[in-house]
Amino acid sequence: MADLIVGLQWGDEGKGKIVDLVAKNYDIVIRSQGGHNAGHTVVVDGKKYALHLLPSGVLNPNAMNVIGNGVVVYPKQLIKEINEFDHDIKKKLLVSDKAHMILDHHIQIDKARERLRGKNAIGTTGRGIGPAYADKIARVGVRMGELRNIDKLMEKLAHYYEMNKGYFEYLEIEIPDMNELRKELEFYKDELIENITDTTKYLWDNMDKNMLLEGAQATLLDIDHGTYPYVTSSNTIASGALTGSGLPPKALNKVIGIAKAYTTRVGNGPFPTEDLGEAGDKIREQGHEFGTTTGRPRRCGWFDIIAARYAITLNGCDEVAIMKLDVLDGFEKVKVCVGYERDKEEIDYFPSELDGIKPIYVELDGWSGSAGVTKWEDLPENAKKYIEFLEDNIGTHIKYISTGADRNSTIIR
Ligand code: IMP
Repeated sequence: MADLIVGLQWGDEGKGKIVDLVAKNYDIVIRSQGGHNAGHTVVVDGKKYALHLLPSGVLNPNAMNVIGNGVVVYPKQLIKEINEFDHDIKKKLLVSDKAHMILDHHIQIDKARERLRGKNAIGTTGRGIGPAYADKIARVGVRMGELRNIDKLMEKLAHYYEMNKGYFEYLEIEIPDMNELRKELEFYKDELIENITDTTKYLWDNMDKNMLLEGAQATLLDIDHGTYPYVTSSNTIASGALTGSGLPPKALNKVIGIAKAYTTRVGNGPFPTEDLGEAGDKIREQGHEFGTTTGRPRRCGWFDIIAARYAITLNGCDEVAIMKLDVLDGFEKVKVCVGYERDKEEIDYFPSELDGIKPIYVELDGWSGSAGVTKWEDLPENAKKYIEFLEDNIGTHIKYISTGADRNSTIIR
């Protein structure tokens, strides 16, 4: 059976910390979508690791790590991450032969398209994610398993570049030198071939083990259910984790939704509770809200109950973790969005288009001194009221409350 950890907002909720907290309970940790657009930093025995592609189970010596078929893999990045470990994690890593590969031209296309979109740019991470998924859906993509036969792969790529000659010219992208490309692909093969396998079959053969599906990005960035087109190019929600791993729906045991005590977003697109004033700046400063992958300052604002309910329903969450509660320490008042208004009409659900939406807030009394608290009874009274207010309104048990970056700064209720 598999448990799933999924982000309920626009990413960066702190999924990594909860995964790290619970990963020791699992035999297999699986990534099922996204690529190296994801990112979190973990500290183990004083050493810092920046994980973008590797599942977090690499930090648990007993867990097997699976990069599932739904992930888009940039082999160069994967090899780099593997080599950053001073112990051999390759024996504990399987990569789906059905996972699609990001090649350098996907990254160039991503950047060129963003440039051409000008003020309508999505604000992607520039990692080639969208173009790689686009090729997958157009059935012209390259899968990791194709590294098994480089001659055949080179033939296929030569045809691909031929077909896209005009498009590459328009985007001012050079078609790679085929000898260099062959060398590159051979290097990927040498480094990764032992890890590439049919991971779906592996998961089916290990159904009796405890599995953790580790979500990347988050619900409101989902290609179908997010704030399109300002989204990522994969299905980030619970059902995407099944497609992206090959696990059947009935293998899903528990879904844990992760949200911050406030909201952030990187990149462009609607964000009803964004605070462009002092409060937003204070959240950014206190919460160190700068991207792990790109270093960009994150847009900051208040907790949005309408968005959270939508995300909880889409994912079928059994329990919720509220992260970074301590970042709200020191605010006299904290706002929570309890409804939307558009054209003087009140809306109590998350609509497909957010144009013209204005948040309806309630204000609660603030608190100080939640940082580092590990027991519910030790939380300041108003912080408890805040959590209880969220819980009542999202209708789901808030099991974890994070009060600091450290693994121990966590309340489990
Ligand atoms: P892409 O996934 O690089 O195509 O970027 C599409 C959108 O998703 C942009 O707004 C990115 O900022 C956002 N995004 C992608 N990955 C992450 C993530 O791991 N955390 C937060 N936002 C992300």
